[in-house]
Parts: sequence; structure tokens; C-alpha cells
Amino acid sequence: MTNAAFPDLRLRRTRRTGWSRAMVRETHLAPSNLIWPLFVCPGTATEEPIASLPGVSRWSVDRIVERAKDAVAAGIPCIALFPYTEAGRRSDDGAEALNPDNLMCRATAAVKDALGDAIGVLTDVALDPYTSHGQDGLVDEGGYVLNDETVDVLVGQALNQARAGADIIAPSDMMDGRVGAIREALEMEGFTHVQIMSYAAKYASAFYGPFRDAVGSRGLLKGDKKTYQMDPANVEEALREVEADLAEGADSVMVKPGLPYLDVVRAVKDHFAVPVYAYQVSGEYAMIEAAAAAGAGDRDALVLETLLAFRRAGAAGVLSYHALHAARLLGA
Ligand code: PBG
Repeated sequence: MTNAAFPDLRLRRTRRTGWSRAMVRETHLAPSNLIWPLFVCPGTATEEPIASLPGVSRWSVDRIVERAKDAVAAGIPCIALFPYTEAGRRSDDGAEALNPDNLMCRATAAVKDALGDAIGVLTDVALDPYTSHGQDGLVDEGGYVLNDETVDVLVGQALNQARAGADIIAPSDMMDGRVGAIREALEMEGFTHVQIMSYAAKYASAFYGPFRDAVGSRGLLKGDKKTYQMDPANVEEALREVEADLAEGADSVMVKPGLPYLDVVRAVKDHFAVPVYAYQVSGEYAMIEAAAAAGAGDRDALVLETLLAFRRAGAAGVLSYHALHAARLLGA
């Protein structure tokens, strides 16, 4: 046997055993990397399954508190709340967003009362769960979403949520200038500790369908959201969005959707020294569930592999409907 008979490099050497793979692992996923989105519905002791999101339900406020306790027990540091607004409370101007007694405020206050700082509550700022037309802002006669007029309402919505106890305000509307306007209003009202996580690079995506079922806006929405959400073709523009939101006072930024946009997560992380979050959105969740149901892959393995991929791309954390399940798997 000559020396030339073996490969120069045997990369399989460190892969041979579990202990060795653990030692050379470059990226880690923990429950603390997860944010769990939850849908709130009216009523008490109510659970409403969402057909297009198998395994995900809307919960009444009392049940949201139970889910928040589940999250704490599993090591999840933060939940994100979205409301299902009754038809009678939806209007052209989305005024229900400003109601201090709306579902979001009640759920936020209930979780904070029960759990205090044991968990963070992130609240979404955008008008689509409250408007009769399903757009994220105020529309003119032609259906165009007005920027500055919408920002004024979003500021009121953000303050309404902060007064209810929200820890992180997350504007998902994609209006220009809303982060700065919200930050200023929060400061003026003394909410200096309330964070802003901006949906900075949010794309006009086909992956949001089941979410719109969950908040009840799918049937209402006419047209699309392409005049404010980003073109899926662009990444330089995402950097400009992030730069603007950071300059306006965002504490962290989000890229959304998730898996098809990992290049954007990486680009943002490489350009800015800030926490970057990714939202593995409803259509991605539904795809994983459909693949698992069809026997195309092992559900738990698919869930953990996709979540780890976000970490590898540079994400500090992931909003995922699989968060509780994943956290329990990781904790086991
Ligand atoms: C709306 C909002 C959407 C999502 C989060 N906030 C939908 C949209 O922009 O139409 C989508 C989340 C998901 O699909 O899981 N402001």
C-alpha cells in the first residue's frame, strides 16, 4: 500500500458518530429562537380550527392565556398575536384597530396579567384584520392604499396596543415612514421600553393564503398588495427598506416569507449588525403539513430542518406556527 492510496481529506471522519457531529455543528436551534404566532377569536372557552392550516386554531382570550403558558413551559420567549375580527366590527377605515377593548388588547392584557415578564407579547400593526376590504391601510376611491393617512391610523393602533401591555410592536403594513412615526409617538407617551420589530422586507407573496383565512380577510380582499409589499424579485430594495427602518428606530427587523427568501435574510444579516427575524408564513406551514400528510417526508424532521436553515442563514429567530411543536421536540 502506497501513501497515495488514501484521500487527502476524509471529511466523513468527524461525521461518523453523534458525539462528533455535535462537536463540529456550526449552527444551533433552541426554543429561544422561536416566536409563536397565535390567532385570537371572540368568545370564551372557544377553539376554532382553521381548515387551510391543519393543526392551527383560533383561540378565545382565556385559551390564548393557556397557550401562552404552554409557550413558557416549552421555553418559547415570545408570542405574536393576530385577531379574527367579527364581520360587524370590520369597516372601511378599520376603526376597530383603535378600540381599547378590541380582541388584541384584551388578549395582550390577559397574557400580561397572567404571566408578566415570563413571556413577551408581540402585536401586529396593520389594518387588514379590521377593514371590510382586507387591505392593510386606508384606500382611496380607486382602491389605492394611501400612505400618510394610513400611517396616522397605524400610530393610533400601535399606541392602543402599547397601552394594553404589548412588549414588541410589529408593523407589517409596509407603509413608508411608519416606524419613525410609531417610535416618536411611543416616546411621547412614555413607552420608551416598548420595542419595534419592523416587517422591513415583506414581499407581496402567494404564501399568505391560509393566514388570510385565519384572520377572515381572504374573501374580502380585492386585488393584491403589490403597491406596498415588495416585489419578490428584489433584494437590494430589501436592504434599503431595512436601512430606513433602522434609521427610524426599529430595534430588530424581519424578512417575510421565510424559506424562499433565505438569501434576503443572509444579505440583511451581512449588511447590518442587528437581530434579523424570519417569518415562516402560513403557506410554508401548510406545505410542510401537506408533504408530511402525503408521506413525502417525516414531519418532525422537516420542521426542525427548515427552522435550522433560518439560523444558518443568519436569523436570530423565526416566527413559526410549528413553534410549540418544535420547542417541545428540542426540549425532549
Ligand atoms: C398582514 C399580515 C399578513 C401576514 C402577517 N401579517 C398577510 C398579508 O400581508 O396579507 C401573513 C402571515 C402568514 O401568512 O403566516 N398585515
